[in-house]
Amino acid sequence: MNRGTEFPDPGEHGRRVASMFNRISPWYDLLNHTLSLGLDFYWRKKLLQTVRLQTSGRVLDLAAGTMDVSRQLQKQGRCSGILAMDFSRPMLEKGRKKIDPDHVLPLAADARDIPLPEASVDCVTIAFGIRNILPREKAYAEILRILTPGGRLCILEFGSSRQKIWGGIYNLYLQRILPGIGRLVSRDRSAYGYLAETIREFPTAEDLKKELLESGFRRAEHRSLTSGIVCLHIADK
Ligand SMILES: C[S@@+](CC[C@H](N)C(=O)[O-])C[C@H]1O[C@@H](n2cnc3c(N)ncnc32)[C@H](O)[C@@H]1O
Repeated sequence: MNRGTEFPDPGEHGRRVASMFNRISPWYDLLNHTLSLGLDFYWRKKLLQTVRLQTSGRVLDLAAGTMDVSRQLQKQGRCSGILAMDFSRPMLEKGRKKIDPDHVLPLAADARDIPLPEASVDCVTIAFGIRNILPREKAYAEILRILTPGGRLCILEFGSSRQKIWGGIYNLYLQRILPGIGRLVSRDRSAYGYLAETIREFPTAEDLKKELLESGFRRAEHRSLTSGIVCLHIADK
């Protein structure tokens, strides 16, 4: 892992988010796979299908967490290099066993201040991470800077959940059942309530598309998965 000097102060919101992921890192994978009923594997597989490589062959997996996306990228064997970046060191540590260090380089850094040179990666993936980053525009500006011309940003994120899904069963699950189970297993009082809250507050797919275009991406589109529970957003530089 990048053991370099400390990265810049992530600010109040960033500190809260990082400390929450530091706390839940031991439980993250277990809760992730069980609370999504295993669907997260399918969703990440769909994300990987949108990855596009060009000149450098390098991919940055941003907000990589315990590196499930990085591992899948490694398995595909298409990339010349994979960087797994997250500002929670415990999350990266937890995922360390999943990756081959000859192919994946974990890096502790903030998505709003990416320590990479301009035009150095062909593609950036971010699975269930963008929702936690504020302001998102700072991350978009950094992503645009480090992408090669024509490079691609592939976002996998929950839908905003403002509309009823499966007759409201999903909404009930998200707001009541999931935070309860999360609290019970991780013993963290707030983390899984935070999950439901940020999903509710996240922009709709159309609003996110507008945001990406206004931030400077040339083209953006989205595809909903599993009745809109999650959404793939693809934006090209
Ligand atoms: C819900 S987890 C997703 C992890 C992984 N991508 C996955 O698919 O399971 C969100 C991750 O985003 C990271 N994160 C949130 N804000 C960040 C930021 N500003 N810079 C870097 N990482 C950030 C958190 O530390 C956490 O590991």
